[in-house]
Amino acid sequence: MPKNGKRLYIQEVSVRDGFQMEPIFIPTDRKIEFINGLSRTGLAKIEVTSFTSPKAIPALADAEAVMCRIDRVPGVEYAALVPNLRGCERALSCGVDEINLVMSASESHNMANLRMTPQQSLEQFAQIAAEVNGRVRLNASLSTTFGCPFDGEIPLSRVLEVVARFVDMGMDGVTLCDTTGMANPAQVARVCEAVVQRWPNMVFTAHFHNTRGMGLANVLAALQAGIDRFDASLGGLGGCPFAPGASGNVCTEDMVHMLEAMGYDTGADLEALLVLARELPGIVQHEIPGQVVKAGPWTRRYPLPASRDRQGT
Ligand code: COA
Ligand code: ZN
Repeated sequence: MPKNGKRLYIQEVSVRDGFQMEPIFIPTDRKIEFINGLSRTGLAKIEVTSFTSPKAIPALADAEAVMCRIDRVPGVEYAALVPNLRGCERALSCGVDEINLVMSASESHNMANLRMTPQQSLEQFAQIAAEVNGRVRLNASLSTTFGCPFDGEIPLSRVLEVVARFVDMGMDGVTLCDTTGMANPAQVARVCEAVVQRWPNMVFTAHFHNTRGMGLANVLAALQAGIDRFDASLGGLGGCPFAPGASGNVCTEDMVHMLEAMGYDTGADLEALLVLARELPGIVQHEIPGQVVKAGPWTRRYPLPASRDRQGT
């Protein structure tokens, strides 16, 4: 397949967005072993865990142990999700490369997820930006950018208003999140074109969930609008426990497979990702939605079945 040479950046979220949703507690050593495997697959960034309240997200109550004990492979950025100042202090104490702050574009999801208003979240972010003062990278993730399961449609003007606040605070990056898979490709194109046009020097990431089967189509729409960084989750795990109907992220190995087949350079090693994806059902104790792990890559060939004519000759 001819290469078009364009470099894309794949950011793995299975061990945060994925594991946070699992009903079983995955043992700390198993998480660490899995993350160490992920670190050796060419991914640009791994969102290792979240420094949230262990009452809210018991599955990630071992955030310090995981963050402090993983191998730090050069060239891979290690990020963690943080909702407030307390989380920021915990993340800094573990030497994260990047703090990924989270809030929602919509009032209701912010209240359900973080028990504060979006305005209060913005105030926390401003305090965190002052506290961090350039020591680590700061990214702001905007949940429900493309729709809220409680409040419905989110006007583009609302997205632009919040992103403008992030830019003013000096965020190094901004992630546009489709928390419950409500986005469609035409909408993704509109929103992504608008932000890229207004802030051409900002590092934007797209974060899609495949809840309604539109995940990879949305990746393509964002890519065509100028986005080159994508969150994705191995096996297609994922989902917010405080958003009704939430389900898995775009599947990392399926996304890498599609982008590489199109000639993009994702930096990721598909075979190595597939080896890890095969371990996932054993770790989470259920089947995973990823498709390439079941079908094999498009380059897979089968021996011709013996024809009837030839049988017996
Ligand atoms: N890490 C650990 N503990 C924290 C914490 C953090 N970042 N922030 C607050 N806490 C603790 C407080 O110390 C307090 O503990 P106590 O009950 O033992 O005294 C308790 O949590 C309540 O604190 P409060 O500030 O009142 O928080 P809250 O109950 O209003 O919850 C959040 C706010 C943001 C901490 C909580 O909703 C949360 O962690 N949400 C994360 C949701 C999430 O990760 N969703 C999926 C990803 S999008
Ligand atoms: Zn998500």
